[in-house]
Amino acid sequence: MPQRILVTGGAGYIGSHFCKALARAGRVPVVYDNLSRGHADAVKWGPLIEADLRDGAALRAALADHGIEAVVHFAALAYVGESVTEPQRYYDNNLGGMISLLGAMEAEGVRQIVFSSSCATYGTPEALPIAETAPQAPINPYGRTKLVCEWMLRDAAVGWGLRSVALRYFNAAGADPEGEIGERHAPETHLIPLALMAASGQGGPLRVFGADYPTPDGTCIRDYIHVADLARAHLLALGHLGAGGESLALNLGTGQGASVRDVVGSVAQVTGRGVPMILDERRAGDPAELVADPHLAEKLLGFRAEITDLDRIVADAAPWFGHPRGGLRC
Ligand code: UFG
Repeated sequence: MPQRILVTGGAGYIGSHFCKALARAGRVPVVYDNLSRGHADAVKWGPLIEADLRDGAALRAALADHGIEAVVHFAALAYVGESVTEPQRYYDNNLGGMISLLGAMEAEGVRQIVFSSSCATYGTPEALPIAETAPQAPINPYGRTKLVCEWMLRDAAVGWGLRSVALRYFNAAGADPEGEIGERHAPETHLIPLALMAASGQGGPLRVFGADYPTPDGTCIRDYIHVADLARAHLLALGHLGAGGESLALNLGTGQGASVRDVVGSVAQVTGRGVPMILDERRAGDPAELVADPHLAEKLLGFRAEITDLDRIVADAAPWFGHPRGGLRC
């Protein structure tokens, strides 16, 4: 029987890309999602259980009824700005969900988990690139919920033998290169989608949040990693746990930074359209530069991002935002 994996948040952006990769690897993703942010039509590779993580009875039934061997936990609220204005909602959903999930796993004897963490757990870095040994000092409630979840994983390891891989994503970007699934956030707040929407005349000009940062072109620098690469890293993490590997916490990035202006230039290049934009104030809580040191994931999981060309990442995202597929003009 193929290995069955519970994928919380499998109807969401990164979760659905992981489900496709998992199915390609011959395993069955059992998606557990409350559809508060995800899309039922993105669940194509296995069953969908529509339920909330804080429903412990539904979770236990899902683990037991489907013979689940490991969990990949994506489900969370993940907007930094929203977490600042609605902090209790973030603690309730992200920490309440994790407490419930770990309780159900312990009760059902499921002892392997891959967890979606974030570079937001580092806060404003003291040094670049950011290695896993850097201090974790998040600067917003979203990042704090992810950090506390990492602590819960470590405590559960001591308490009842859980083994985990926490994957600290930098900026997830792009879409399935085969075009089956993509990025559909509502509201959309991320740079690449908004720049692509501005280029196709949707939603008004792009607001560039700050052009006076201490970076070469004055705009913020981020490490954009293709969602298909992220999906593959989760497969490797599952393989590590399945082979009896020890618990890990790893960065997932490319090690390369791109500025907001670089992204705008790439969107113009890929789509052949100008990106209307206005220079705006800095957005609260944005560090000037976040770039991963990706070497530990390579050393311990054999993971290295493959689609590192920014134009390729943008070209894969473009069809989801009103641009014809195959419009890569470079
Ligand atoms: N930006 C703009 N205009 C926009 C949107 C974004 O200039 O309309 C800028 C931001 O200021 C930032 C960069 O583009 O400098 C990237 O912004 P995103 O919102 O796309 O991504 P973030 O880096 O803010 O957030 C991402 C993830 C979060 C994670 C965070 C870690 O989406 O989940 O990285 O800092 F927490």
